[in-house]
Amino acid sequence: MYEKLINSALNAKKNSYSPYSDFKVGAALLTSDGKIYTGTNIENATYGATVCAERTAFFKAVSEGERNFAAIAVAANEEDYCYPCGICLQVMAEFCGADNFEIITVKTADDCKIYKLKNLLPYGFSLKIY
Ligand code: THU
Repeated sequence: MYEKLINSALNAKKNSYSPYSDFKVGAALLTSDGKIYTGTNIENATYGATVCAERTAFFKAVSEGERNFAAIAVAANEEDYCYPCGICLQVMAEFCGADNFEIITVKTADDCKIYKLKNLLPYGFSLKIY
């Protein structure tokens, strides 16, 4: 079902800028109307200025005017599923319904797990502006 999104996340990994951790992450974000925005992690010598692949994808999409999202696929290495960090989950919660938005953690193209945002961030902070 998410084949194209998963392959986009795996493909996005090759642009990862991760000289400090050498941990390459790729993300692919699906809008509700079917567009895909990719992202990679972008590290920094200060460490603290590092941005995860998921937020790169979100910020690219949001800055292009997108506001409605269906799913995100996240891929790192083949040894493990890559789960989004707490900050990225909170960014997802800003724009995505926790009951519907899906997070696909990818080991390989045919070894993935699918979660709802509410399963990974059950009590996320919200100002309930929607
Ligand atoms: N990272 C991501 O890009 N996404 C995740 O879901 C987990 C961690 C990045 C941040 C950093 O560049 C590297 O992986 C190691 O933590």
